Amino acid sequence: MKLNSANINVMVKACRKAAKNLIRDFGEIENLQVSVKGPGDFVTASDKKVEKILIDELSKARPNYSILSEEIGEIKNDKEFRWIIDPIDGTANFLHGIPHFCISIGLEKNNEIINGIIFDPIKDEMFAAEKGNGSYLNNHRLRVSNRNKLKDSIIFTGGPKHGSKDTDLILKEYIKISSNVYLPIRKMGSAALDMAYVAAGRCDGFWQRNLNYWDIAAGIILIKEAGGFITDFKGEGNYIKNKNILASNSKIDQEMIELLK
Ligand code: IPD
Ligand code: CA
Ligand code: CA
Repeated sequence: MKLNSANINVMVKACRKAAKNLIRDFGEIENLQVSVKGPGDFVTASDKKVEKILIDELSKARPNYSILSEEIGEIKNDKEFRWIIDPIDGTANFLHGIPHFCISIGLEKNNEIINGIIFDPIKDEMFAAEKGNGSYLNNHRLRVSNRNKLKDSIIFTGGPKHGSKDTDLILKEYIKISSNVYLPIRKMGSAALDMAYVAAGRCDGFWQRNLNYWDIAAGIILIKEAGGFITDFKGEGNYIKNKNILASNSKIDQEMIELLK
């Protein structure tokens, strides 16, 4: 890893420790798939275990930092620094034995994300970013892609979730984009990795509604530091509050905004 500030090192260490459990548990999933009960409860327990390891490790190193984590919610402490944690992003993939999920940790300073890591334990890919110091995948500096036309791009999106009330809306957006510009749209199943892939130039843009802060916190800094651009569907900056996010290589966003209107 080229980034080696004290906080990045703390995040990477916590993440690698938690990932050992995650990899072990993922190995069990296949066996549970065929059981009558299925792997649901096991995955919930695994999610909580990963979260506990992350929180224990991060708190040991930074006892005063506040925490917002998907399963346990808020732990209020210091007002300046806050960890934003998604212990497993891509849980549905994990549950079904699909090897595409990650751990995501962001660090806020005075309400702004200054560090982020997204770790895919199966591919051993550690995406990390630091405000002012760039985005990296393992030891390589990341840059967003250079494609400037939507028609040449690959776009990621996600949702709906099981039983989602927004299903019709989400499918309408999908059809609008895909039928106006014939292009490949991918649904990979992990919003955090989708954002890491925009930062890495593996895809050119990403849009999704109803995302929570822990899904996107680390991805925000990864994309910004790789030269990308993030807005809501109207091209405004309220994406954390209104939960609708549009991330791009900063060249195809206007075309996407036009289509999502
Ligand atoms: C989910 C994933 C998924 C996205 C959902 C998220 P989870 O997070 O990021 O790709 O479509 O909206 O909730 O539940 O796996 O942590
Ligand atoms: Ca999660
Ligand atoms: Ca998530």
